[in-house]
Amino acid sequence: MTRPNLQIALDHNNLETALTDVVKVGEIVDILEVGTILCLQEGNKAISCIRHLFPNKKIVADTKCADAGGTVAKNVSDAGADWMTVICCATLPTMAAAQKEVEELQVELYGDWTFEQAASWYELGITQAIYHQSRDALLSGETWGEKDLNKVKKLIEMGFKVSVTGGLNVDTLKLFEGMDVYTFITGRGITASENPIQAAEDFKQEIIRIWGE
Ligand code: 5RP
Repeated sequence: MTRPNLQIALDHNNLETALTDVVKVGEIVDILEVGTILCLQEGNKAISCIRHLFPNKKIVADTKCADAGGTVAKNVSDAGADWMTVICCATLPTMAAAQKEVEELQVELYGDWTFEQAASWYELGITQAIYHQSRDALLSGETWGEKDLNKVKKLIEMGFKVSVTGGLNVDTLKLFEGMDVYTFITGRGITASENPIQAAEDFKQEIIRIWGE
């Protein structure tokens, strides 16, 4: 089993605070995400600044794109993103158009989606899915549980590289022990911590403890 990646989600309201955090933890984590909030607030400038600071890191633009996939993907790619997200309710033509412009496309799973749809994404050549507990669902009392683990397992069995995200903390990771999770994505688990460097190290060490070097 491969050790899962650690991805930081930069969901800051402005570029200055995002840069403050990414400079601290960028070399500890494996993947840098320009989060949806930051994309909406600052646009592709955020991607190009972070690319400039980290020329060799994988960068994801978390656009959760729903339409105009080709244009959005070309724009984020020109700014320096390697990967981009589309929302699961986007049409197959939107996904296909986006996929042509970025190295890899990730489908963000929110709300209602089916394994039949997932099979059609896979047929299109999309190999990454993000299993998400929405921020708003978590705020209304949802937690990670068996129903989520079963869906993640099934997606992995279908062949997807599955990232997991939504209110993760270091203690949540052990729920996924024994599963071939591709990436753990955390935002506030690092950025809202008093010591983001220590928090990023703690996530990394817990991944290594469970999945090995
Ligand atoms: C919100 C997102 C977040 O980037 C992702 O869920 C990680 O955030 P957090 O760890 O703070 O919940 O995609 O839509």
